[in-house]
Amino acid sequence: MGKYRVRALAIAAGALLLGGCGERKQEMAGNVRVGVTCYDLSDTFISELLDCLRDTLARQEEISVTVRDAAGSQRTQDDQVEEMIEEGCRVLCVNLVDRADPSGIIDLARKHNVPIIFFNREPVAEDLKQWDQLYYVGADAKQSGTMQGELAADLIRSDPAIDRNRDGKIQYVVLEGEPGHQDAIIRTESAVDTLKNEGVELEKLSWQIANWNRAQAQNRMTQMISQYQTQIELVLANNDDMALGAMDAYGKTNYTESEIPVFFGVDGTSVGLEAVAEGRLAATVYNDKEGQTEAMAKLIQAIISGQGMEELSFQDDQYLYLPYDKVTKENVSLFPKK
Ligand code: GAL
Ligand code: CA
Repeated sequence: MGKYRVRALAIAAGALLLGGCGERKQEMAGNVRVGVTCYDLSDTFISELLDCLRDTLARQEEISVTVRDAAGSQRTQDDQVEEMIEEGCRVLCVNLVDRADPSGIIDLARKHNVPIIFFNREPVAEDLKQWDQLYYVGADAKQSGTMQGELAADLIRSDPAIDRNRDGKIQYVVLEGEPGHQDAIIRTESAVDTLKNEGVELEKLSWQIANWNRAQAQNRMTQMISQYQTQIELVLANNDDMALGAMDAYGKTNYTESEIPVFFGVDGTSVGLEAVAEGRLAATVYNDKEGQTEAMAKLIQAIISGQGMEELSFQDDQYLYLPYDKVTKENVSLFPKK
């Protein structure tokens, strides 16, 4: 159901973007530059989101896009913002490296009157309130955790074999994203709270930070396996890449299928969806990059043309949140794969 709603929104957004283009093109002879900087393009979800943004903006002929990779350095990103403003970008899309430190970027943009759309890494509210030409496009972290918890609770209820030692409790571990990221701690908390509210008895064995990264997750999971051997029944990962890293770690053991836990992720990246389709990843939660990039594109259009702002469903005037969606083996074919 959710998917159809998302699709319909995307189609509506597309139609809106096409409408009225002719007029504007004459108005603005030449190119409108949009600058994009990402926190780290080696991040699987971010690189897929960027591809999507490029495709979406490529449909708008008057726009040309400049993309930079901050490769994990806030200083580099500050410089990139400065350069892109000097190069004449009219709007910037910023995926902050340090979501708690956007003031340098905000001051610069404000001085040159260049609006900023922050995306995926949410600045704190006080920062966004500094100027009314700052926006955020993303998703509600809590919803992703709640959905992950519901998916896990459904499976645990339907398959008693998950509680392998039959002690009435689910022994679990957590693989967490970057410390300080809105999608890490909140996803974990809301997933665990949801499982408890659904009546699942839990026993937390351990948790490890793996910074969204598959190789780091494999490493951390290997350590946890050596400590807990076959006791782990459930792995909750804040994203698909870390769930896959955990599965890689089990791939290196000689445990049989009945000794391996169930894994849950978030994102629905290409590899994540594939793992769900193959039944290796129990389920994931779709981080709607198509919806997010359509919303960014609509917002860019509205900023450039001065029209259509009222069509966007802002929260607190500056925030656009797109809903997540549950992905299981049953509905995985409805989700876009590369
Ligand atoms: C999250 C996503 C992670 C990672 C992170 C980067 O929304 O689930 O996989 O890409 O954003 O900020
Ligand atoms: Ca158990």
